[in-house]
Amino acid sequence: MFYLGIESSCDETAAAVVAFDGERLSVLSNIVASQIDTHRLYGGVVPEIASRAHAEAVSRVTQEALAQAGLTPAELTAVGVTAHPGLIGALLVGVNFAKGLAAAYGLPLVPVDHMRAHIAAAYIGEEMPKPPFLALAVSGGHTSLYRASGYTEFSPVSATRDDAIGESFDKIGRLIGIPYPAGAGFDRLAAEGFCRAAGTDDVRAAYRAFKKTDTYTSGAYALPSPAMEDGTGDFSFSGLKTAAINLLHRYEQTGEELDTARFAAAYTYRAVEAVIKQTDLALKQSPDCRALVVAGGVAANSHLRARIGELCEKRGVALFIPPLSLCGDNGAMVAAECHFSYLDGVRAGDDLNASASDGI
Ligand code: KG4
Ligand code: ZN
Repeated sequence: MFYLGIESSCDETAAAVVAFDGERLSVLSNIVASQIDTHRLYGGVVPEIASRAHAEAVSRVTQEALAQAGLTPAELTAVGVTAHPGLIGALLVGVNFAKGLAAAYGLPLVPVDHMRAHIAAAYIGEEMPKPPFLALAVSGGHTSLYRASGYTEFSPVSATRDDAIGESFDKIGRLIGIPYPAGAGFDRLAAEGFCRAAGTDDVRAAYRAFKKTDTYTSGAYALPSPAMEDGTGDFSFSGLKTAAINLLHRYEQTGEELDTARFAAAYTYRAVEAVIKQTDLALKQSPDCRALVVAGGVAANSHLRARIGELCEKRGVALFIPPLSLCGDNGAMVAAECHFSYLDGVRAGDDLNASASDGI
């Protein structure tokens, strides 16, 4: 079975072919045309520019994905396309292209939810998580935990009540001079900050020692935790973000020099530890879930990856986290999700529309 996945929900136009051999999903091709350099000029995604760039790239990217996989469209089992959530104009480009392709070759068309697709990226490879499992989705628009009782059956466990973790890295990163999208730069700067605070080159040892360092104990970079303390397991990243903005203003007003690396470390520590805390709570509350999937752009964060690894080891839970190449937006994750929705009999007609809102 061969699936083509098309993704155009935000700032990457992507297409990929994924194969299912009866046991496992493998990637035959994975083409991503990033628009990030264009949006960087404006400090964030400009929706109209995104739609136009998708329209320019979608046909080429799809042809490349098919050519690299060595397949013609007629050999595909189904075409999967991200239909929600995302920027509406951007989504419509992929949806309309996929509709045309499916109609031209008489292929089944499968609408795919972007967050389910991120989670499905963790199904690719030697082993798949066995349901029931928990899924942590951390991206530019989401900070959510779900319980999966099957590969397409999700129920919400907890979520952010306001901003998402990725957008908070992007917004605060921008204020300390990291170009959009700031996540990866923030990650590296924080590593430098942890090392400087602890006086060692070993990032993981520095992270573990962080709470005992001056940077943390002096209160100079004190920030609140985005983990809600009301037992819901929810998050509030807008509180952390506002406190960080106020801290930056204070430094600006007093003229005191800000050590951006230590600040990035303090911010990252709060964000990551909150995710660990709420994930641990969810694991404790779902003892039948023996696997955890971590997915979305922020799953690329080195500090989060290390801490999640430690948590799963401590709890004896199997961790499924995609390689860095499948954490950001890509077509392979759409094709992987398409496989399971296809098996469920999910099909769309030529009246398929895109939707900006959440569908998981
Ligand atoms: O999943 P994704 O590519 O797009 C959405 O669905 O939102 O996630 C993008 C987000 C951005 O906010 C980006 O800054 C963040 O993922 N990100 C990271 C890292 N790499 C990307 N955040 C923290 N650490 C990283 N290494
Ligand atoms: Zn995404």
